[in-house]
Amino acid sequence: MNEKKTMLSGIQPSGDLHLGNYLGPLRHWPEMIESYDCFFFMADMHTITVRQDPAQLRKRTLTQIAQYIACGLDPEKCTIFVQSHVPAHAQLGWVLDCYTMFGELSRMTQFKDKSAKHAENINAGLFTYPVLMAADILIYQPDYVPVGEDQRQHVEICRDIAERFNGIYGDVFRVPEPYIAKVGARIKSLNAPDAKMSKSMPEGCVFLMEKPEDIMRKFKRAVTDSDTERCVRYAPEEKPGVSNLVQIYAAATGKSFEEIEAEFDGQGYGKFKPAVGEAVVETLRPIREKTERLLADKAYLEGVYRAGAEKAGYAAEKTLRKVYKKIGFLPR
Ligand code: TYM
Repeated sequence: MNEKKTMLSGIQPSGDLHLGNYLGPLRHWPEMIESYDCFFFMADMHTITVRQDPAQLRKRTLTQIAQYIACGLDPEKCTIFVQSHVPAHAQLGWVLDCYTMFGELSRMTQFKDKSAKHAENINAGLFTYPVLMAADILIYQPDYVPVGEDQRQHVEICRDIAERFNGIYGDVFRVPEPYIAKVGARIKSLNAPDAKMSKSMPEGCVFLMEKPEDIMRKFKRAVTDSDTERCVRYAPEEKPGVSNLVQIYAAATGKSFEEIEAEFDGQGYGKFKPAVGEAVVETLRPIREKTERLLADKAYLEGVYRAGAEKAGYAAEKTLRKVYKKIGFLPR
């Protein structure tokens, strides 16, 4: 009997992985593989809600697999796979579409944001995206879903869908909890600290594979606050720019906010910004180097994602069969 709890999470290979992805969820995943049954995937099916260059998408998907491993995910100890390699996600997604209401999907803030950004392509997939995400999750019956703060609403709707389904058919799905870190779950853009760090604003975004000198330049130019006090202090309402840097420094070094405030007491922002840059460079250096090494061995990476698809497919099929049976589909 398997006593371990299950965790699952994914990231879209729609751009290069960035510091928000890393400091928010990804850096916590390796700690989890020892005590949980973990599934980590490349959410490639989600990326096509926005137009993608096919060759780039393939390349990024493979790079992201290498980055997961480089960040500390041992493929022997967890399941690493590509979403589109496990058809049961889409199959369950369709079923759950029929148990999700138009009104609840209309309230999703990410749908509102993305349809404002991509007004020329407000496709049905963009609208039903949270249902596919619910399927990604529920099909593995996880206890926890480690994500950044911006995905909380999607995990909440997943719980609502699961509860609605269970209410009709009995206990089919485990209702998972979001797992959101206290520090790092909401990293902001370096040049616009009112917006989250995202690849769509590359100047304020630090990418995992970026060169150290480019990272340093971005941190030196990071927007700080125009208050007169000019001291390093964590106060997100009053000092969003500096607080974002404090948060990044805390996540990168493991120091507490108080320790950081004491370390830079009386020093102003001029010393602080490069120090944050250096801490980030040193955090990312081994990840970048290991990713580069892994990318040189395509056969190894293929082996990882093939084995991952086998394992994930086995678990996913089990839930799908149960769901099909409950709703009355004739078994093959
Ligand atoms: P995605 O690909 O936009 O982001 C991947 C993960 O990174 C987190 N994140 C951040 N955390 C802190 N600060 C930031 N600035 C920041 N930006 C992104 C996100 O919260 C996320 O955890 N829908 C998901 C992918 C997905 C998924 C799933 C996740 C598809 N199916 C099932 C979990 C379970 C997404 O678009 O995340």
